Amino acid sequence: MVKVSLFYDSKYGNTRLAAEKIAEGIRRKGIEVDLADIKEVRLSGAVCADVLVFGAPNHMASPSRAMKRFVEYLAVADLKATGFAVFGTYAGRTRPVDRAMKKLEAIVQMRMPNLKMVLPGLSLRVSGVRGPMMEGEIDRCIEFGGALADHLRA
Ligand SMILES: Cc1cc2nc3c(=O)[nH]c(=O)nc-3n(C[C@H](O)[C@H](O)[C@H](O)COP(=O)(O)O)c2cc1C
Repeated sequence: MVKVSLFYDSKYGNTRLAAEKIAEGIRRKGIEVDLADIKEVRLSGAVCADVLVFGAPNHMASPSRAMKRFVEYLAVADLKATGFAVFGTYAGRTRPVDRAMKKLEAIVQMRMPNLKMVLPGLSLRVSGVRGPMMEGEIDRCIEFGGALADHLRA
């Protein structure tokens, strides 16, 4: 049975909500997922997951510093995982793909070269710096979780 570990960082709660909704989408397809705030994470969960999902807010056109540090920290662990995916929240003008999310994809790929990207990352727009997420974004989170689960079951 495939297992997913989903790690998020969030200052105002929007990326956390996105993480919860992505996890809901994954669980609806019958796949097990652990959700963890990177500020409270225990490493053992990561080591035994097959797929790692990372989500961070855009801070100054990059993933949050805490998330970048977390990826560095995890990269030296003995991981069982073979796949990854990322998502990110941002507050700028609507764009299908946010730069910070793409950077997070590139950072994970560089630091964990043995992991294959399961599917392209998800960019979610929030209203202003504090949110909430724009209309429709929560549905996109659930769909993303579902699509991720479909890839894992295929
Ligand atoms: C210090 C800081 C820098 C930010 N820089 C950007 C930015 O460069 N581009 C952008 O689109 N949003 C930027 N934002 C808005 C965040 O992306 C937004 O606060 C975040 O998506 C909300 O997620 P959270 O509730 O999980 O913290 C910034 C926010 C903070 C606090």
